[in-house]
Amino acid sequence: MKKKINIAIDGPAGAGKSTVARQVADNLTFLYIDTGAMYRALTYKAIEKGIDLEDGPLLKKLLDETVIDLQVGEKEQHVLIDNRDVTTDIRSYDVTNNVSFVARQSEVRKEMVKRQKLLANKGGVVMDGRDIGTYVLPESELKVFLSASVEERAMRRYKELLENGIEADFERIKKEIALRDKRDSEREVAPLVKAKDATEIDTTSMTISEVVNSILQLAKERA
Ligand code: DC
Repeated sequence: MKKKINIAIDGPAGAGKSTVARQVADNLTFLYIDTGAMYRALTYKAIEKGIDLEDGPLLKKLLDETVIDLQVGEKEQHVLIDNRDVTTDIRSYDVTNNVSFVARQSEVRKEMVKRQKLLANKGGVVMDGRDIGTYVLPESELKVFLSASVEERAMRRYKELLENGIEADFERIKKEIALRDKRDSEREVAPLVKAKDATEIDTTSMTISEVVNSILQLAKERA
């Protein structure tokens, strides 16, 4: 049987990567892997243990002792650390605003990339993150870079929070997204950049299904 292709989807926070990647994966019956969730899971455990979030070697040690499992669920992907379901916990405010400190530690990234490569070695994977096209799966057949203006990304996040009954401050969200962009793009190790051979899709004025369909079209051409 012909090996299935791998699809790498990168882009800044709030560009719609996870929603789009999940739908593309469902459509192709591929496996969806949310690599941001892996960094979030480690951050969650480190906060819980009171570990310094800028201590790379200590975080790497913690990661070595941690099993991070991504499981396919009915509506969403479930994230487990050491068999404990932390799907909701890793989306907390605290984790969201601290994860980029953990994600910039080279020791941590090296191990995460190793685990992510393993997950994709059989093909048939849609993986989303920041460095998938550049470092994790540089050989992937299709690389997509999703972008959207900061305003638009903040608005999406704001609406999502309100829909979930959570009070939100639009200006504050906008500032936090801009700050996270800055930290992710300016870090020394594997910063957020578009791979040379990635197709950029500006999703600012597109619907989710329009984005999904353009990626499916590209996947058809590459398969
Ligand atoms: O996509 P997200 O918001 O769940 O990602 C959480 C953080 O992890 C974000 O600050 C960027 C970082 N990240 C990364 O550095 N590399 C990845 N492959 C995925 C996420």
